[in-house]
Amino acid sequence: MKVDVLLGLQWGDEGKGKVVDYLAPKYNVVARFQGGPNAGHTLEFDGHKHVLHQIPSGIFRSQIKNIIGNGVVLDPVIFKKEIEGLAKFEIDFKENLFISKKTQLILPSHKLLDAAYEKAKGKDKIGSTLKGIGPSYQDKIARNGLRVGDILAPGFDERYRNLVDKHESILKHHDFEYNLEEVEKPFFEAIEFLREFNLVNSEYVMNNSIQSKETILAEGAQGSLLDIDFGSYPYVTSSNTMTAGACTGMGIAPKNIGEVFGIFKAYCTRVGGGPFPTELFDDTGKAIQDEGHEFGATTGRPRRCGWLDLPALKYAIMINGVSQLFMMKADVLSILEEIKVCTHYKLGDGTVSEEIPFQLMDEEITPVYKTFPGWKEDITAVKDFDSMPAELKDYIKFIEEQTGVPITIVSVGPDRIQTILR
Ligand code: GDP
Ligand code: IMO
Ligand code: MG
Repeated sequence: MKVDVLLGLQWGDEGKGKVVDYLAPKYNVVARFQGGPNAGHTLEFDGHKHVLHQIPSGIFRSQIKNIIGNGVVLDPVIFKKEIEGLAKFEIDFKENLFISKKTQLILPSHKLLDAAYEKAKGKDKIGSTLKGIGPSYQDKIARNGLRVGDILAPGFDERYRNLVDKHESILKHHDFEYNLEEVEKPFFEAIEFLREFNLVNSEYVMNNSIQSKETILAEGAQGSLLDIDFGSYPYVTSSNTMTAGACTGMGIAPKNIGEVFGIFKAYCTRVGGGPFPTELFDDTGKAIQDEGHEFGATTGRPRRCGWLDLPALKYAIMINGVSQLFMMKADVLSILEEIKVCTHYKLGDGTVSEEIPFQLMDEEITPVYKTFPGWKEDITAVKDFDSMPAELKDYIKFIEEQTGVPITIVSVGPDRIQTILR
């Protein structure tokens, strides 16, 4: 079968974990293809709330093969903690979890470099999660990186030491204090722990699954506006978060991509630095933040909140080839008298445009809004589309007309069961 891809279309935290967990019973395989522990994917079901960082969100369904693909950067220490945190669920990881030997390792010194680079940027810092993502991808591209498969070969410790020496020579040029020894012991313990798992050539696992007509869901991390090529550069993450990244991050051909599920919040959020044209700095923004519990699942930082940005959403749909839209957190907007949607950008020179400018940061953008009446009604227990308030149906219809893509799932709460399939 073809591989369906699920991606965030905004700046991350759209609710990918919730939807992957909801859709998982339809799939034999769930695979992560990029990012690393910068991701925080929240799942809620049967009274449990769980945040996953590197492990795919299909892990709670016993019949599913979960794959960490070659495009991911893996922190062994966080991986060990994640696995230990799942102990009460009695998951058979030998049966259910496979890690690509080509997955890049995040070393403790990558995290130090992340912190040093951010410090050096001063007020222009990215607002990184400081999980070592950028430095690890940097080493991958520079052809210095260590991969999961390397831990099985002789000489790993020496290769580790050579790479850390390079990192230390960079750190020397930064005004940055650190203690590497303290973090190396847990790293090597975690490497031992990692050796016990299924470390595989996951491109074969994926393509064999395709050949044997298994159903596969690729789980994106971050969001399209954080994509290294098409996001709000340089305020982005260091991987391709888009559909194309699913091919390179798992070793599958573009012709094998099936549905592309694009997931977006009924409004927008962003955590970290960088431009955000529809950001709200007023009481409405604060109200959305409170109602939506908009605090980062990885770092706990408050998420900046604002109105839905249609030019950005259309852009994300375009670069990803989105075939179905899922709208999340519609329930959060129930508190508002009126709801705005940005339809166009008015630029500094007075022109009105639907295009995302080259430098979102430098451009003086005034969003042009269309206002909708709110529904002011609790929708968290609504079970089907027909029972939704008319104002919400109008809001959904407008987005569908504007984007030309059907909204096939509307999410009305964090729990697995608060999901409306159309
Ligand atoms: P991800 O990174 O895309 O998986 O999203 P996060 O887990 O970082 O953030 C989404 C947050 O919203 C989590 O706390 C979810 O439990 C919660 N959530 C997901 N869908 C809904 C929804 O429809 N309504 C509400 N109120 N919360 C939701
Ligand atoms: P999920 O998968 C939201 C943001 C960081 C920072 C920028 C770069 O949960 O949606 P990095 O750690 O990659 O160097 O940070 O990207 N960021 C995220 N924001 N959700 C995420 O993941 C994110 N992963 C990274 O806040 O602005
Ligand atoms: Mg998240």
